[in-house]
Amino acid sequence: ELSEEERLFDELVANEQRIEPRDWMPDAYRKTLIRQISQHAHSEIIGMQPEGNWITRAPSLKRKAILMAKVQDEAGHGLYLYSAAQTLGITRDEMMEQLITGRAKYSSIFNYPTPTWADMGAIGWLVDGAAICNQVPLCRASYGPYGRAMVRVCKEESFHQRQGFEILLALMRGTDEQRQMAQDAVNRWYWPSLAMFGPPDDQSPNSAQSMKWKIKRFSNDELRQRFVGMLVPQAEILGVTLPDPDLRWNEDKGEYDMGEIDWDEFFEVLRGNGPCNAERLERRRTAHEDGAWVREAAAEYARKQAARSEG
Ligand code: 3HC
Repeated sequence: ELSEEERLFDELVANEQRIEPRDWMPDAYRKTLIRQISQHAHSEIIGMQPEGNWITRAPSLKRKAILMAKVQDEAGHGLYLYSAAQTLGITRDEMMEQLITGRAKYSSIFNYPTPTWADMGAIGWLVDGAAICNQVPLCRASYGPYGRAMVRVCKEESFHQRQGFEILLALMRGTDEQRQMAQDAVNRWYWPSLAMFGPPDDQSPNSAQSMKWKIKRFSNDELRQRFVGMLVPQAEILGVTLPDPDLRWNEDKGEYDMGEIDWDEFFEVLRGNGPCNAERLERRRTAHEDGAWVREAAAEYARKQAARSEG
């Protein structure tokens, strides 16, 4: 027998209405949102590192300015999402603790290295492209603060994707070495960006409930399929080859058949054994420790302000 609160909650979700912070919600709904939104926020913040690596080495002032703006955007996305998670009752300190102790997940994709400038193009085109496919439906997530944060994020993400495409286009119109560098980056980033959408639907423990609650609108495989469908024509314009020999149009299904993703590698990365997991966490921990004096000064300033206003 449903309680009055449960009935009202189910009705709001069924009527495509938003659940707001002060509304009653099932504990499990709150818990899965804290899980997903905090991990999403961690992804944005850790995602600054692979690209930050190239800000001092960008090939021109224009590329440096664009890359700096993009990395700053990712920081902003992280802050919106941490704030959205805080409306559910978790504190910033708790989330930070979970991340730097290695207990929190963040997107697998950011545990890969960025050895050449072409990686900035491949990340923008593939990783931000995948993020858009995943984040546009999240604008309609049933939890108000999450859906609203996604609207702003998606606007900035489309700029990120376009500047990545443009970097690759410039390289593909360059020398043979530049073309090879672009193709090499696409070869290294293609499969991990497909894995970013999450495990196959039959190995996705959260999907069913997340879709019932209208947090997740499309399954991991559906969004992965949509992403590949978007990539094929763009790869043709770029003149790059997508590194999947089994990729071919399936007329009957009206979508692309694709090769097998290496899920062993994916779950290894999730266990913390990817190429850059240790380095990413170490950088985040160090940045947090180096920033302690700023937090102490701000807290002391706030205390003095409060004392003065009481005085
Ligand atoms: N990286 C790390 N962990 C992942 C993952 C990935 N790519 N995909 C799935 N997982 C984890 C899930 O978190 C879950 O573990 P948990 O229960 O401990 O949280 C487990 O693998 C099983 O996956 P499920 O499919 O059951 O989990 P979800 O229903 O949560 O679906 C998801 C996974 C599609 C990533 C979903 O959480 C989601 O949409 N998250 C929000 C979007 C997001 O995080 N995007 C990251 C992109 S990075 C980014 O946006 C930055 C951009 O600017 C480049």
